[in-house]
Amino acid sequence: MALARPRPAPQIAPDNPKLAVVMVGLPARGKSYTARRIERYLSWLGYRTGVFNVGEYRRARFGAHRHSFFDPDNATGEEARWRAAMDALEDMVRWLGGDGQVAIYDATNTTRARRATVRACCERAGFQVLFIEIRCDDPTIIEDNIRSTKLSSPDYEDADPDEAAADFRARIAHYERVYQPLEDDEGSYLRVTGAGRGVTVRDVDGYLEARLVFFLMNLHLTPRPIWLTRHGESVYNVTGLLGGDPELTSAGHHYARSLAKFLDERCPDPDDVVIWTSSLKRAVQTAAPLGRPTWAWRALDEIDAGVCDGMSYAQIQAQMPEEYEARRRDKFIYRYPRGESYQDIILRLDPVIIELERTRRPVMVIAHNAVIRALYAYFQGVPRERCPHLPIPLHSVIELTPHAYGCHESRVALEPQRDSGEGL
Ligand code: F6P
Repeated sequence: MALARPRPAPQIAPDNPKLAVVMVGLPARGKSYTARRIERYLSWLGYRTGVFNVGEYRRARFGAHRHSFFDPDNATGEEARWRAAMDALEDMVRWLGGDGQVAIYDATNTTRARRATVRACCERAGFQVLFIEIRCDDPTIIEDNIRSTKLSSPDYEDADPDEAAADFRARIAHYERVYQPLEDDEGSYLRVTGAGRGVTVRDVDGYLEARLVFFLMNLHLTPRPIWLTRHGESVYNVTGLLGGDPELTSAGHHYARSLAKFLDERCPDPDDVVIWTSSLKRAVQTAAPLGRPTWAWRALDEIDAGVCDGMSYAQIQAQMPEEYEARRRDKFIYRYPRGESYQDIILRLDPVIIELERTRRPVMVIAHNAVIRALYAYFQGVPRERCPHLPIPLHSVIELTPHAYGCHESRVALEPQRDSGEGL
């Protein structure tokens, strides 16, 4: 039974946005962190997104430097930094003029003149420009940023940490002398103040820009673990059937009790954790022994296998060989007849990601194979096309702890691993 139907569109917005996001702010304010988070989020949603980091261009062309290079009175340094900035800008404009959809220009862009040059160049090429200014005057946060990110920069290879930190503070002082905060007449902008505590928006227009505002309003740096797990073994896992709303097996109930012990050890205080499940029985039953309040999200339900729901992979192969082959060829794009694709799952998980970003308490998500793959791909920056192939065994917990440059990951197998019936 082959059903003729259109191939799902590869991108989510009806228009074809070409957006240049231009970062603004003094060093060690979290610009690169923010740029990378935007890149990860938009790439996961399906936008071809690239970061153009001027510091990397500078180091590649002119090597590592100490603070005097950044002194605005150092003509050689000024000239080299201008060259690096223009090279990155040219590459960005070329890339955006081709396949790219969203480019992030990651530099301090501390003067009006520099911002005007960047904006004019992007607008001449027909791209929208959105400035994102990060302002932060909290000395503790700045010092933390210096210690956690700058000392490992190639600019300070083999340097003594205290000497490197002092040098970086001197570099910041050079920038402070010339910094002109962004003003209202410079175009669309979004300003994040005080480590994400306040967001100011001006002249922001368009679907993508609005998504970015929403995303950045919810970002924070409070460290806390996120636990991702599939439900305990279900009756369908044993019989190799897809989807449905089956009950747990006795091994599945056993896993649920082990999960409760795991959580009690990690989070003895029940108010210290947020627990989300899908709306399906096998996930809700897995959460039951935890004995804590849980929220059931439809958005966390397993991939909808449409007309194939309740079948095994072998049955699909025998009865719908063309469907089986189409999925095997491109499992990410493939949409089950009257069901979903992985691409569809990512779209419905967008609000879950925003909520996960917003929540400052530890979170446990009890869901399903395809859904956990998509969430995992977001946190670990796995290219979305690869997410249908990620191994997510039953009866183990993936512990992710977000930090400035990604996520620490550990996997805890709570029960002997069992074959969960996946065949494709
Ligand atoms: O087999 C368990 C299961 O959760 C099914 O319900 C679901 O269709 C499948 O995994 C998703 O995995 P895949 O995309 O690899 O078929």
